[in-house]
Amino acid sequence: MTDHATYLDAKRALDDRSLNREVLDRFAAELPPEPEILEVGAGTATMVERLVDWGVIEGGRWVAVDAHEAALAAGEARVGEAVGDVAVEYRVADAFDAVSKAVAAGDRFDAVVGCAFFDVVDAAPAVAALADVAPVAYAPITYDGETRFAPADPDDDAVLDRYHRHMREFRAGGPDGAAALAREATVIAEGPSPWRIEPPYESGERTVLAHLLDTVEEAVGETGYDASDWAERRRAALKDGRLRYEAANRDLLVRLD
Ligand SMILES: C[S@@+](CC[C@H](N)C(=O)[O-])C[C@H]1O[C@@H](n2cnc3c(N)ncnc32)[C@H](O)[C@@H]1O
Repeated sequence: MTDHATYLDAKRALDDRSLNREVLDRFAAELPPEPEILEVGAGTATMVERLVDWGVIEGGRWVAVDAHEAALAAGEARVGEAVGDVAVEYRVADAFDAVSKAVAAGDRFDAVVGCAFFDVVDAAPAVAALADVAPVAYAPITYDGETRFAPADPDDDAVLDRYHRHMREFRAGGPDGAAALAREATVIAEGPSPWRIEPPYESGERTVLAHLLDTVEEAVGETGYDASDWAERRRAALKDGRLRYEAANRDLLVRLD
């Protein structure tokens, strides 16, 4: 399987074009001129670079937290101590431990950011914990319960049903990540941010698709269903440049308190 940092960097352009610009504009409107932002599940720290590149933030402080040491280290090596006038700090930690420490230290933020994060944690305790450090959370690319591959394969339904079952039974969060966050917090703005990959593939898209096929095969395997034949057919379609993929995501801006 592709390593986590390589996958996260490969999906960067996909996120760039998928992010819902109306929700992003609404998020920008919530921020003071030099915001202090806590990013949970920051991965390789692509979001701070993106928001500076796009002129959403021009100064302030960004604290990037992720439990995955190698991914955050790759981000730190690329981004360094600042992007433009935004000072960037890195903390390898469980996000909620980092929040507890920030609360104990009296550290407050203007916003929490969690991209592709709120579908891998339980919404209720996450919202309760994050409310202690910031008034709002921006949660782009939150999975919204639907994955499709094409051309059609006879095993698609069985495999994707098991994939969602794995999300429900074997990890926090789940296929209803976006809906759960919307239930637990007050939605200020929301909108779709679907991922779509179609041939001819752009740079990084083969890496993303290969990683997603590995992820689905592995997850489905943990439910006791052997998806290896399905995955082999999908890998063959990817190799031939025929595989298409779509996932429903939602971007949310929520009030935490
Ligand atoms: C799907 S990745 C998204 C990474 C990045 N936000 C992006 O969109 O490129 C989710 C990230 O959340 C991190 N993560 C999940 N649960 C976490 C937790 N409780 N504390 C810290 N990081 C966590 C994972 O290590 C992973 O890097």
